[in-house]
Amino acid sequence: MVDRRPLIAGNWKMNFDHLRSIAFVQKLAWTLKDAKHSAASVEVAVFPPFTDIRSVQTVIESDRLEFAFGAQDLSPFDSGAHTGDISGEFLAKLGCRFVIVGHSERRQNHHEDDSVVSAKTLAALKHGLIPIVCVGETNEDLEKFGSSAVPVSQLRAVLDVLPKDSEIVVAYEPVWAIGSGQAATPLQAQEVCAALRAAIAETHGADLAAATRVLYGGSVKSTNVASFLREPDVDGALVGGASIDVDEFAKIVQFPKHVIA
Ligand code: PGA
Repeated sequence: MVDRRPLIAGNWKMNFDHLRSIAFVQKLAWTLKDAKHSAASVEVAVFPPFTDIRSVQTVIESDRLEFAFGAQDLSPFDSGAHTGDISGEFLAKLGCRFVIVGHSERRQNHHEDDSVVSAKTLAALKHGLIPIVCVGETNEDLEKFGSSAVPVSQLRAVLDVLPKDSEIVVAYEPVWAIGSGQAATPLQAQEVCAALRAAIAETHGADLAAATRVLYGGSVKSTNVASFLREPDVDGALVGGASIDVDEFAKIVQFPKHVIA
């Protein structure tokens, strides 16, 4: 049985300028230190806007904080005439460990389809970044196809091009649960996360499926995080709104201490 270290990832979206990002990361570090949080038991990563990444890198490296960080998106291309885009090569130089790809806000607002998401996943891997591949169904998808068909097909599009033994993280984020305050139930999350893991096993083998972390995202809070993480196929959380409240995010990170009724 592979031990999958839980990952709590804070997607800040378009919040915080670089000065606020520094203050946030410092306060998160003090709060977790005061709470005697063990960094070895839970991996914590923050995803600031591009303009903050250098500042976040500097504070994490100079204060030797045990946080990872990453970007919210990257270009599928390495360099060239792509105004406004950011290369994975630049993110890797800044010390990013992860990059989010295919978030539903990118799929919806920037018309990113499965082929773009696949290309971005490959670009991330090429530059040594771990892609966090987001998949999830809308309300209409849920009514028409049930809960796992669309997320599984979105993941399959990536798996079709994914080299053997690639380290990726998958995030199941039902679109209807994002920012709505209406999270999936732990059982719904478990079912879809298990189906996603099974899809990895089918194309890339049982070992990669067992080693890949599958996160749940969508209205995760300190009051529900532990119930998701108790499920056998849920290995962490991708947190949006609650990740920009430092006290709330610190509580989420400490989910192993929560008592579930
Ligand atoms: P939420 O967002 O936690 O605010 O629902 C999750 C996400 O978009 O990753």
